[in-house]
Amino acid sequence: MFWSCLYPIALLGLLTTSTSAKPVPPPPSHINILQVDSALHSLFSYYNTTDGRFDTSASWWLTGNALTGVIEYTAKTGNPRYMPQILKTIEQQKKPLPWWPSGGGIFRADSTDDTGWYALAMLRMFDITRDTKYLQYAVLDAEYLQSFGSDKCGGGIIWDIPSRTYKNAISNELYLSLSAGLANRLEDKKQAQKWLDVATKQYSWFVKSGMINSQNLINDGLTDGCVNNAGDEWSYNQGVILGGLTELYKADKGKKEYLDLAQKIADAVIASSSFNSASGVLVDKCEAPGTCNTDEDAFKGIFVRNLAKLDQVVPGGKYARYIQKQALAAYGSARNGTDFYGVQWTGPVGQANVGTQGSAVSLLVAAL
Ligand SMILES: *[C@@H]1O[C@H](CO)[C@@H](O)[C@H](O)[C@H]1NC(C)=O
Ligand SMILES: *[C@@H]1O[C@H](CO)[C@@H](O)[C@H](O)[C@H]1NC(C)=O
Repeated sequence: MFWSCLYPIALLGLLTTSTSAKPVPPPPSHINILQVDSALHSLFSYYNTTDGRFDTSASWWLTGNALTGVIEYTAKTGNPRYMPQILKTIEQQKKPLPWWPSGGGIFRADSTDDTGWYALAMLRMFDITRDTKYLQYAVLDAEYLQSFGSDKCGGGIIWDIPSRTYKNAISNELYLSLSAGLANRLEDKKQAQKWLDVATKQYSWFVKSGMINSQNLINDGLTDGCVNNAGDEWSYNQGVILGGLTELYKADKGKKEYLDLAQKIADAVIASSSFNSASGVLVDKCEAPGTCNTDEDAFKGIFVRNLAKLDQVVPGGKYARYIQKQALAAYGSARNGTDFYGVQWTGPVGQANVGTQGSAVSLLVAAL
């Protein structure tokens, strides 16, 4: 991807310098590596070199999410420039958490989704390093999530660990993605099969849970009475499931039903007038009233990161145009003069933070 993107740009450079009349450069039609590097450089302005967190004062999961964006960059470009920071973050943040020492570290946190984000990052660390210790971290985390499964509402895991409550979408999507991801990566056939069984069970439960509504969009979670709670439809809840179904498709004999469901959800988002501006730029519902918090600021990048995973397995790369369009919109309208990005990819830029910037990095890497 790296070279196939750069090559036409290099060629264009040669052609334009060899002509005497200087044409006005056309607007970019594809995100390039320099644009991604600049966004990453600004993301690292939030990086704390002591604890390896991306903004120590922001939610802990946002570091897991920013880390994933940087690991995806490393995977896609093969450029190891940020490896020291990646390793530092893992080394520091796998220690027992000050606010949840009983988790014992290795990313075992007080909510199952927090653990899920880091565990998925560990799967990708294994992919780029082939060091099995990262796979072992991911297994530990998956076992931890598994221990918060219950029969209430017919299956799934709970979200909040101290109160043992709330079967919600994000935790269960992350758990599906993690267990299917382990099935794809563990060499021991028995272990791989064990996590495939967890993933298929989690899938069967999720599709019947009621969280997917009649528009093929996913609400926030279930009520105590085990029905769809009609909670907000956030972009990240439409996203993590796409990556999870893609992993499950690879792990479970390429069964079509997984891709069919993933495409239904992705297509529903792309066709939705609440998820898109009039010109087709992805939005979350907190943007218009200006109420997004730093967590919500990160959501859309997660959707696009996972849409790109789906795009790699569906015929014809049917989502590539949508992804490119989002990245060009953000580059054109959400970016300030020092390559910080605000939450609204439609513009105006507004205030950047670790959530908006991590989101932009995931978007741009997906479009590279
Ligand atoms: C960086 O991390 C250290 C250790 O957690 C903390 O004491 C310090 O306040 C952090 N710095 C900033 C600027 O947040
Ligand atoms: C861009 O935004 C960041 C964070 O919001 C800010 O620190 C920086 O000064 C801005 N740059 C410009 C050129 O406005």
